Amino acid sequence: MKVAGKPMRTIWAEPDGAVGIIDQTLLPHQLATVRLETPEAAAHAIRAMLVRGAPLIGATAAYGMALAMRRDASDTALDAASALLLATRPTAVNLRWAIEEMGTLLRPLPQGERAAAAWRRAGEIAEEDVALNRAMGRHGRKLIEAVWLREAKRRPVEVLTHCNAGWLATVDWGTALAPIYAAHEAGIPVHVWVDETRPRNQGASLTAWELLQHGVPHTVIVDNAGGHLMQHGRVDLCITGTDRTTAAGDVANKIGTYLKALAAKDNGVPFHVALPSPTIDWSIEDGVRDIPIEERDPGEVTEIAGRLPDGGTARVRLVPEGSAAANYAFDVTPARLVTGLITERGLCAASREGLLSLFPERRARLAGE
Ligand code: MRU
Repeated sequence: MKVAGKPMRTIWAEPDGAVGIIDQTLLPHQLATVRLETPEAAAHAIRAMLVRGAPLIGATAAYGMALAMRRDASDTALDAASALLLATRPTAVNLRWAIEEMGTLLRPLPQGERAAAAWRRAGEIAEEDVALNRAMGRHGRKLIEAVWLREAKRRPVEVLTHCNAGWLATVDWGTALAPIYAAHEAGIPVHVWVDETRPRNQGASLTAWELLQHGVPHTVIVDNAGGHLMQHGRVDLCITGTDRTTAAGDVANKIGTYLKALAAKDNGVPFHVALPSPTIDWSIEDGVRDIPIEERDPGEVTEIAGRLPDGGTARVRLVPEGSAAANYAFDVTPARLVTGLITERGLCAASREGLLSLFPERRARLAGE
């Protein structure tokens, strides 16, 4: 998508064999890029959230494997890089998916061919992500267009989103924001309510920044405002992303998504979740029971980062010294609260049958498991 009018992606291969990323911890105040040259650097970028968002975590892990193979293409190095990267963050299943994709390709190859093959496949994973997101945008746009037509084109369509599921969370386009960008490009007026998304403020810092760069009208709200807006008819639909969707359609996403889905249900507001197929974990059904929820440093709750009047940045403390804080990074929204899923193959119900209607090749495999 565009930054200051110029197209940019979140991750790219440098001509000299390094991997370039945007350091998202510095946004929205500074746009800086970082070079990754080792699998350790890729693992650090994921763990410290220089890159984040389920699809981008997967793409970074794939490039991390490629960096590992360039240094040492042995089985031992392959196993070590897989373990290192897999241990970075637990909830987004795209991480495991990408590492397994790379392992399945590389293991049977002679060592001399692994580095080139790994580099090629990492590039393909990144390109595929862009294509999947663009397709989700095309399908999800219909939901926005339907509201626009229903309202006789009298006012912008009001969409609420949580966290950052835009192009910064993927390689390009985004998941939840892809339909919004597609509608915007088709000339459908859209206004986005952006949940700030405490504690790391991915909405206030990242979603607002990318919508601003791309010229999409939006308003940042505190996380607890969505229910109020829905009660007053100010939200036509919610669209969020997901870090892991079970075979039954339960979705894990950034903490607070579940409460937004409850408010949407109470107010009859459609609640849609956008996901590329690598985000589906076909091995589990019950998300509340089986999706591992990341717990992060409580310091993210007790402190907040921001820009000072002199242009510098600082972290300041919000919570009394001595108060305990807990930092659950994700929650699970059960399928019964999800109006529908937006995938690269189209829209479906958030259910086993809904997902299988779009991914019929899984029916045989699921039965055989
Ligand atoms: O902790 P983050 O910033 O990696 O969390 C990101 C999200 O929760 C996104 O909504 C999610 O990855 C889904 S879509 C890209």
